[in-house]
Amino acid sequence: MDAGDLLIGHTFEVSGDAMASPWQEVVRINSAGAVFIRGGRIIEIGDRKSLKAAHPHARVADYGDHLICPGFVDAHVHYPQTAIIASWGKQLIDWLNTYTFPEEMRFSDPAYARLIADRYLDIALANGTTTACSYATIHPGSVNAYFEAAEARGMRCVAGKTCMDRNAPQGLQDTAQSAYDDSKVLLQHWHGRGRATYAITPRFSPTSTPEQLSAIGALWEEFPDCLMQTHLSEQPQEISWVRSLFPEARDYLDTYERHGLLGARAVFGHAIHLEPREIDRIAETGAALVHCPTSNSFIGSGLMDVAGLTARGIPLGLATDTGGGSSFSMLRTMAAAYEIAQLRGTALHPAQLMYLATAGSAKALHLNTRIGTLAAGFEADLTVLNLYSTTAIAQRAERANNPWEALFPTIMMGDDRAIADVWIAGQRRVNTLASPTP
Ligand code: GUN
Ligand code: ZN
Repeated sequence: MDAGDLLIGHTFEVSGDAMASPWQEVVRINSAGAVFIRGGRIIEIGDRKSLKAAHPHARVADYGDHLICPGFVDAHVHYPQTAIIASWGKQLIDWLNTYTFPEEMRFSDPAYARLIADRYLDIALANGTTTACSYATIHPGSVNAYFEAAEARGMRCVAGKTCMDRNAPQGLQDTAQSAYDDSKVLLQHWHGRGRATYAITPRFSPTSTPEQLSAIGALWEEFPDCLMQTHLSEQPQEISWVRSLFPEARDYLDTYERHGLLGARAVFGHAIHLEPREIDRIAETGAALVHCPTSNSFIGSGLMDVAGLTARGIPLGLATDTGGGSSFSMLRTMAAAYEIAQLRGTALHPAQLMYLATAGSAKALHLNTRIGTLAAGFEADLTVLNLYSTTAIAQRAERANNPWEALFPTIMMGDDRAIADVWIAGQRRVNTLASPTP
């Protein structure tokens, strides 16, 4: 029998919802921690002394002062936008038309889709992200490329074919029927296969006719176990457009609900400019929202009310929203979440930021019994943080009076240099990110 691996270091431990209850009651850092993993799973977590005694033959990875965390879970990305990240000067609708749609057209070529899927996942892993929930493009080949690339790395992943049958270039439109048919074939192939989850994916109401939304809603009713992901209330101009396209709807959320696209397994990205009725309805149905803070400032969208929404018990994930977001790093994303909350008068604690990037995102994706927490029975996806990765960070961390103060400079100033190691399903992953070519 395999002797297993014993990882020694400081451990980030969560036993509840750090947004719904006082974080002090549910999150701690154990500075004498250890994690024992075998067969792709976490078998035991606890104090290093007792775990060493219990597993004397285990291979030991001693990480010293590093912080062993659950792998980061990025709850909303567009992997096809990898190559256009950091494109200058536009707000949402112009940004989509100028940068995004031309790039997404290129994904009609499955070889290009695979090239970018591989590139995206290598960058994500180098940043400590072990699961990313991605939109593909309208092309079924772009969905296969992403799932295949994740499968090749052993990664748990979520993705779906983006559906659009209006207000997009000709080469980037499907129909109500083909969106239904193609999504059905893809979800029957991928959903629950290995570590894959399928998310039925209408891009957003402006790019789907009511007929398409209805067809996709019917598909979700047939396969209620799948997730449904889309965008909601990101920018005021977008919301006005939705109002003119759906005059019969009560509000933006209703454009989804009236077509069967609201429920506990719905995941809405952005959700910044919500009406009180929409918030009530989201809370009632148990749908999740995803905070995309670097994107919301980069595209000029606004400041999500994280404290107010989580106080309503709404599950909240955290995401880069690559490439509307300006970073692949969940550390940078936590920093942006901190800054945006500050602008709204709330100081999110490092325990809460880390919770959102791990168990919180996993909960939004209904994967919180499998990933996002260091606990017995969970899949062994781990990210090990070096809290002294640069001179600037180290000199601040050295002054720390407690573990949270030691972690916070890495959240605020850290990048891929802080990622000491990543484990996927119990396998230590050597960082194979190729050096950039000119
Ligand atoms: N709304 C519809 N599509 C997109 C997209 O690709 N990125 C962002 N940020 N918002 C969207
Ligand atoms: Zn998005």
